[in-house]
Amino acid sequence: MKEEAMLYEGKAKQLFHTDDPQVLRVQYKDSATAFNGEKRATLAGKGEMNNRISAIFFRYLEENGVANHFIKTLSPLEQLVRKVKIIPLEVVVRNRVAGSLAKRIGIAEGTKLKHPIVEFYYKDDALGDPLLNEDHIAVMDLATPEQVEEMKQIGLQVNDLLQLLMSKLQIILVDFKIEFGLDEEGKLLLADEISPDTCRFWDEDTGEKLDKDRFRRDLGNVVEAYEEIFSRLGGQKHV
Ligand code: C5P
Repeated sequence: MKEEAMLYEGKAKQLFHTDDPQVLRVQYKDSATAFNGEKRATLAGKGEMNNRISAIFFRYLEENGVANHFIKTLSPLEQLVRKVKIIPLEVVVRNRVAGSLAKRIGIAEGTKLKHPIVEFYYKDDALGDPLLNEDHIAVMDLATPEQVEEMKQIGLQVNDLLQLLMSKLQIILVDFKIEFGLDEEGKLLLADEISPDTCRFWDEDTGEKLDKDRFRRDLGNVVEAYEEIFSRLGGQKHV
């Protein structure tokens, strides 16, 4: 495939056009950032793990009825995805209190929630990705009420499916973030990535964190933790 122009560069990935206008090439980077880009590092091997783990999750979700943008893995750092127009919302689903929720509501990290909760954050670096409610989303014209409801339902479905998968691997799914886009027909499609960068995974027996909190909190062995997730998922480096 000939080298095509870059469409977008984010903190952890680059997106390139391909010769098919409906298809993009994603190139994962080894960069790690946290706290709205204030903390940065290069972690060799992280990009490959996120590329491969995302592929496993997207394939599993597709097999279980959750339409998403993933097409195929191209190489250790690259995958092909369907082109969508990203809705600038981060949809967070939580099963336990952690991270920003622990700070916001003052309940100890690790506390199980009575039922999963869904939150929406506005993807805007300058504003620091603020929490939005459905009225904010409506007046800002970020999504229709029907799309908000659909994102919530798909978020809960993804939560059920990922919890089922991870519990078999002795991993607690604490919370995760997903993003959605609209395809050329206006259909909502799960997009972006699902990886230890975007989920909290705790070992069921030891409570060990196997996700990006190892980087955020300077716990060390970041890539080793991502490799542990990949290995428990039965990951193989085919390409
Ligand atoms: O920081 P917070 O507790 O709100 O994060 C909730 C979940 O969303 C975590 O799994 C975190 O990794 C993910 N997240 C993300 N990208 C962000 C903010 C949060 O992937 N910009």
